[in-house]
Amino acid sequence: MTNGNGRNKLKVISGARKVAVVTGAGRGIGRAMLDILQQRGYLVVAVVRSLSDVRELFSIAPHDILPIRADVTEPSTEQVLREFLDGQVDKVDLLINNAGFGASAYGVEGMKYEELDRVLQVHCYGPIRCVRACLPFLRNSDGATILNISSRFASLEWVANQEVPGDEATYPYRIGKAALNMFTSCLAVELEPENIRVLSIDPGKVKTRFGPKDADTEPAEAAQAIIDLAENNEKTGLFLHASGDKLPW
Ligand SMILES: NC(=O)c1ccc[n+]([C@@H]2O[C@H](COP(=O)([O-])OP(=O)(O)OC[C@H]3O[C@@H](n4cnc5c(N)ncnc54)[C@H](OP(=O)(O)O)[C@@H]3O)[C@@H](O)[C@H]2O)c1
Repeated sequence: MTNGNGRNKLKVISGARKVAVVTGAGRGIGRAMLDILQQRGYLVVAVVRSLSDVRELFSIAPHDILPIRADVTEPSTEQVLREFLDGQVDKVDLLINNAGFGASAYGVEGMKYEELDRVLQVHCYGPIRCVRACLPFLRNSDGATILNISSRFASLEWVANQEVPGDEATYPYRIGKAALNMFTSCLAVELEPENIRVLSIDPGKVKTRFGPKDADTEPAEAAQAIIDLAENNEKTGLFLHASGDKLPW
């Protein structure tokens, strides 16, 4: 059997097994979430950027982890991911938009337009592409969840009342994550009638390459809290800390 592009289909009929898609699954919080999902019996579609990550993940557990090479900033990712899923699984129960990076310069005069473009691509366009690719498969789940990994620096209220320090995150990062939060909110309203939940999650200060100097949380700890939220939270359209505490939009 072949798909529309003539590629061979080796579809995994997941049956009762849950299927998750995680972007940025090669390292940091994404890799830790992949490990926890695998331990909990999920089949995980791991979106990574490098071929070495694809090879490494495939060698770990070819029956549990399906790695795919895609850069979420590339428009082709939407079609590439949709075709990959079409060839491999019959549904998606959990999509985690986690891939991300920051910018280098602080303040409005330091802001570089190229960085603003890149950060919007990864934090806003990328999750939109992945949602559009996964939506037909999310609809095949009994009750799917989409988690957008956001940041406390996206909170308009906390930025406005200086609850989060203005000099600890760049404009592109805060603008990119705020755009992601708006996407969460719009999508939650649109998909609620279809029983698909959508949440923005702040993972906390996590000890990763990207994390802040005063990070106090191990990636495995943050990942476990986030997956617990995905499995136990029954609400939609919320901005939550990984602990489950509600954050202001
Ligand atoms: N760490 C924290 O304290 C903290 C706090 C708040 C929010 N967050 C958010 O948490 C998420 C994960 O961050 P982290 O701390 O785990 O950072 P990390 O260790 O730097 O990992 C980021 C991951 O995203 C991937 N990625 C970056 N750009 C990508 C692209 N264009 N396409 C596909 N994948 C891409 C990276 O892939 P490569 O390995 O190929 O570079 C990497 O796997 C991010 O969205 C970040 O904004 C983190």
